[in-house]
Amino acid sequence: YRNLRVALLGGGSVGAQVARLLLEQRDELAGRVGASLELVGIAVRDVNAERTVDLPKELFTTDAESLILGADVVIELMGGIEPARSYILLAINSGADVVTANKALLAEHGAELFAAADQVGAQLNYEAAVAGAIPILRPLRESLAGDRVVRILGIVNGTTNYILDRMDEAGDSLEEALASATALGYAEADPTADVGGYDAAQKAAILASLAFHTTVPLESVYREGITSVTPAQIESARKAGYVVKLLAICERFTDEHGVDGVSARVYPAMVPRSHPLAAVHGANNAVFVEAEAAGSLMFYGAGAGGVETASAVLGDLVSLARRHVAGGPGVAASSHAELPVFDIGSVMTRY
Ligand code: NAP
Ligand code: HSE
Repeated sequence: YRNLRVALLGGGSVGAQVARLLLEQRDELAGRVGASLELVGIAVRDVNAERTVDLPKELFTTDAESLILGADVVIELMGGIEPARSYILLAINSGADVVTANKALLAEHGAELFAAADQVGAQLNYEAAVAGAIPILRPLRESLAGDRVVRILGIVNGTTNYILDRMDEAGDSLEEALASATALGYAEADPTADVGGYDAAQKAAILASLAFHTTVPLESVYREGITSVTPAQIESARKAGYVVKLLAICERFTDEHGVDGVSARVYPAMVPRSHPLAAVHGANNAVFVEAEAAGSLMFYGAGAGGVETASAVLGDLVSLARRHVAGGPGVAASSHAELPVFDIGSVMTRY
């Protein structure tokens, strides 16, 4: 096996889980990739901070730059704009491939980062940046590339969905529900990003750009958060048969002069209780994609949470590591496990 040196920037909610899974599943991942994925270090602000996951102390460092310069792959899970942007550029320019979950950075500086990666032939994967564990970006970029997406309707922020759910079902205040979303690792470092709708707007910009094969700047996404939603409004929506959900809506749009374009907007919407989006509870997300040929598709699952998001990060890592090994696009594992196939009959009750 070849050995790929993986540097992790950030050891918080998501980073610590990525590190744990990389260490625990090292042999299995090596078999799937055809190269061993060696976690060479984790850059953090404070090497002595208490961690949610028990990880070898010697992996932690505050010297992110040295870590990046010794890596084949850099996984950025620090969040924020700087120093994340500079670190990713350093990684790309020193020959590493990059995985990130940083939607704030991509929504603001995506064009610069993708251009830098293109220039040197580096890969920059970011499936975890939108809707946590749900595979949605690759389907938009690849599986639906031959179709024409007309609309996306989604719950793309787990924290606000969790808060609205708690306000609706348990009578919590926004502050109480936000405190528990933060404790569960769903919220951003600055939760204003969640409750103010900024995080959902960043995701809407990314989704709309991929779906409509254009650049949708963050500034052009209409945004309202949930901070002005009151328990009384939730209660009256409930009595009228609705549930309040923070929606991201991205669609093709023709203006009054007949000019075709796209629009992206985020706001708390009244969703009929009979609608499938009304059944998206807790920190789950759901993304509906309407495409001309495919019709309606629904993607559903955990939209936030450390270990759930780590799944999407590792998927990106395996994908680019396979390309490394193949020396170009490659999806087939170089080896596969020989597992027994059991005949256990139907696991569903027979009709
Ligand atoms: P987090 O818990 O706040 O962890 C951030 C980590 O980065 C911490 O380990 C911190 O070090 C480190 N860090 C921050 N600034 C640094 C700096 N200047 N130098 C070195 N290390 C630095 O964040 P998270 O929830 O894991 O989120 C990470 C990224 O994933 C963000 O972009 C977020 O938007 C994205 N994301 C999160 C979720 C989720 O559910 N949490 C889901 C999808 C995407 P210390 O530990 O020493 O403070
Ligand atoms: N804070 C984000 C959310 C994390 O709650 O959806 C996932 O992107």
